[in-house]
Amino acid sequence: MIESDFFSDPYSNLPKQGKVAWKAPSNIALVKYWGKLAHQIPANPSISFTLDACATTTSMAFGKKEESSDTFSFDLLFEGKPKEDFKPKIQTFFERIDAYVPFLKEYHLVIETSNSFPHSSGIASSASGMAALSLCIMDIEKQMNPDMDEVFFNKKASFLARLGSGSACRSIEGDLIQWGTHKNIPESSNLYGIKYPFEVHPLFKNYHDTILLVHKGQKQVSSTVGHELMHGHPFAENRFQQAHENLDALKAVFASGDVEEFIKIVESEALTLHAMMMTSMPYFILMKPDTLEIINKIWAYRSENHVPICFTLDAGANVHVLYPESVKEKAIQFIQDELVEHCEKGHYICDRIGQGARKIQ
Ligand code: DP6
Repeated sequence: MIESDFFSDPYSNLPKQGKVAWKAPSNIALVKYWGKLAHQIPANPSISFTLDACATTTSMAFGKKEESSDTFSFDLLFEGKPKEDFKPKIQTFFERIDAYVPFLKEYHLVIETSNSFPHSSGIASSASGMAALSLCIMDIEKQMNPDMDEVFFNKKASFLARLGSGSACRSIEGDLIQWGTHKNIPESSNLYGIKYPFEVHPLFKNYHDTILLVHKGQKQVSSTVGHELMHGHPFAENRFQQAHENLDALKAVFASGDVEEFIKIVESEALTLHAMMMTSMPYFILMKPDTLEIINKIWAYRSENHVPICFTLDAGANVHVLYPESVKEKAIQFIQDELVEHCEKGHYICDRIGQGARKIQ
């Protein structure tokens, strides 16, 4: 599909008022999106596990304005309280998606949103937040166009979410989502995420992600700034090429269940992401000493015990510990015995691969 497929048909039947609500999960990238072009087009393809427990729930009440106007009108409540400082981000998002959902300006919206994870956990809520918001908007559009099928609904939700935050386009469906054009992945697109179209071994169907909260404060450098620094980065082209190659390599890994190869690709991707940060100009480091302590302990544990536990990182100091269902007890024991001491206040979140967003009735 191309961009123009996402323009809406003129609506004849705008509902007067209503309320919709969706819960959308976060996701964790295995091959990372880092670097982008104009209009939220990724510089390289990526792939992620959709998560389950870490999620944002958003409701949107809509009431038709008395008179049409050319501005967006909305109130925003976060965890029950008005949240003025989130509004500019949503205003920008609405401006970006205006051409595709022009009915939004016909309404006054009351948006209420909350996260399942604590506010200052260092877990980014932009992926789950933008996904939940996009699904609410699509739900309203579907009321005007009831014949819309589920495939289009999900694609357009992912398309809109991408315009809010790139990684959000991978938070609509589960359980393994690929985003970004790749020559060997049919149907892959820079515009939206797709369900991974190839064979996936059962081992990768029940993966766990225990998120170790190493540093809960605000990051010094936002992802948006980090992406920007990939322009003119001395290693950018090689890095983008590597992401394509890693997606190719993952095809055989997912099909065969080769967990050793999986670990090599996933850990290398995580460290490459942070290597890009350290070699940007200006350079920066988001890992903390405890991030490195955890990584070293995972490596030592894995080589001594031959248990397939590995790590990945997002753009922060927290560590995502990944392992298959079959080693769950051992992994949790190891995390409690050796890794929790590196978490801020001993906090961590047990999450696992999930099946995507769902409507709240
Ligand atoms: C390191 O999606 O947060 O998590 O598009 O500017 O909102 P924006 O960036 P964002 O970047 C996520 C980067 C990452 C890797 C990934 O999720 O693929």
